Amino acid sequence: MKYENIIYEVKESIGFLTVNRPDKLNALNAQVIDEIVHALGEVKKSDDVKALIVTGSGSKAFVAGADIPEIQAIGLKDGMDFSRRGQEMTRNVEELGKPSIAAVNGLALGGGCELALGCTFRILSENAKLGLPELALGAMPGYGGTQRMSRMIGKSRALWMMLTGDMLDAQEALRLGVANKVVKPEELMDVAAETAKKIAKKPSLAVKMAIMAVNHGFETDLESGLFLESALANVLLGSQDKTEGIAAFMEKRKPIFTGK
Ligand code: COA
Repeated sequence: MKYENIIYEVKESIGFLTVNRPDKLNALNAQVIDEIVHALGEVKKSDDVKALIVTGSGSKAFVAGADIPEIQAIGLKDGMDFSRRGQEMTRNVEELGKPSIAAVNGLALGGGCELALGCTFRILSENAKLGLPELALGAMPGYGGTQRMSRMIGKSRALWMMLTGDMLDAQEALRLGVANKVVKPEELMDVAAETAKKIAKKPSLAVKMAIMAVNHGFETDLESGLFLESALANVLLGSQDKTEGIAAFMEKRKPIFTGK
């Protein structure tokens, strides 16, 4: 697929996906979503890509939401499919099997906030803001925001954001655990890349299993979550990477992981 609205490149085992529609503050129309979903497929398939960084072009916005004129054209007949496609995008980033870092370089509103919430981590520049302002348009978050934001910060705080339109600034997002880090705008991509590289050195199968255990265990009762944890831990205990990791520790050398 030829990308027209995103830039996707791989540098030193890290994928960089930049939503690139700066004249529309990187708003997500159907074509942008198609391209993001396709690029996520590339990331998932490639053994060479160990982590993904998602960001937006320009200094003002990460992504300012779903494309408003496009929403205007959608009615009752297509609305569910529209929402499900956006959810597919946020679910695919969550279920990448590899860590994803939203490098939030400005406004992350509506679908942009939802895309960032689907990522494993969020690193915010000091000027970044997260918001779910859809209600002002007579719409509501439909790409996972009602579910992921309430799970992350609690029902009442999430509803406050939606019903008042108040945005979280970077420090508030950090305090609430939505942001993992807040950095100066000029340091954002370096910090995101350093974080991704740190994770990329870890055995990829173990990274994948840990993400799966947390993501899926979080959605269930403790006993089922513990059972899932044991099953995934068992996969790792039988892996070549575990044998290598422990042998390297005993032999006081650096491990060579294969992802098997
Ligand atoms: N969809 C489509 N286009 C959008 C957009 C969106 N979600 N958000 C911004 N744009 C476009 C604007 O229409 C404008 O395009 P134009 O120059 O062709 O008129 C361009 O991006 C720049 O935005 P503008 O509003 O002029 O910038 P601003 O600095 O005055 O305001 C925002 C920035 C983010 C506060 C404002 O654009 C906004 O409120 N956007 C909508 C946010 C939203 O409700 N998102 C959820 C959508 S469901």
